[in-house]
Amino acid sequence: MTIPRTTGTCTDHRGLASARHEPGDGPSPAEFMLGTATLDSTDNAKRSAARAALLELPAEGIIGLGSGSTAHAFVEELALHVRQGRRIVGVPTSEATRSLATRLGIPLLDNDGPWAIDVNVDGADEVSDRLDLIKGGGGALTREKIVNYAAKRNVVIVDPSKLSARLGEKHAVPIEVLTFAHRATREHLARLGTAKLRLRGGVPAHSDAGNVLYDLVVPPIDDPVALDHALRAIPGVVETGLFVGRADVVLVGEDRHVRRLVREG
Ligand code: 5RP
Repeated sequence: MTIPRTTGTCTDHRGLASARHEPGDGPSPAEFMLGTATLDSTDNAKRSAARAALLELPAEGIIGLGSGSTAHAFVEELALHVRQGRRIVGVPTSEATRSLATRLGIPLLDNDGPWAIDVNVDGADEVSDRLDLIKGGGGALTREKIVNYAAKRNVVIVDPSKLSARLGEKHAVPIEVLTFAHRATREHLARLGTAKLRLRGGVPAHSDAGNVLYDLVVPPIDDPVALDHALRAIPGVVETGLFVGRADVVLVGEDRHVRRLVREG
């Protein structure tokens, strides 16, 4: 099966290479799949980004399956192709995604790795001008980072509300922390921002690995690499939700368009 790719790269207002299809350009591959329905809600924007991600995949191969509502929309779209015989095997980034993909009939590899992932498709909580990411709103940041790191290409799918100039403008930085001495770890985190223990139903939320999660509220981040290093130097920090330089392509579902932002260099 031949998978069409978006073409017509140009530079958008943020100086990033993008493929934007304007009215009169003719239907882009993404628009072709979307039809002409007006997209006027966040859910539709997420769905359109998820559908456009299908165009980034090889005809067959091993695909990383992200977590969160946008990534789950992608899993649902991918499952339609698998049902039609497309030879795809998934690597899920959370138990929630494993359970969804299993229910929809997508064959999956185990959690042990290593995996030769062709493309990983995941959502994000925030995307900066430089296409750096904050992830982990769903608590799957460590697995998401491991799968992201294992993939040859990383495609991120978001709605426009996730875009910002600098990380930290819209979302706190999720941090996975070992339960052992986590209140001591919190004191060290507090030197770098306001560290809030994440609760679910009034009790501490846990990752799939059984660790607790903190959300670090920080001012807009000028140097995400430096902050990531500082956080990871604290004993007890398992992983941070800062994904710096880890997105090759960002697909932004917009009203009747999918904007394709490409990392340069
Ligand atoms: C989960 C994530 C998600 O990708 C992120 O929270 C975005 O979720 P959604 O697509 O539901 O907005 O990082 O850990």
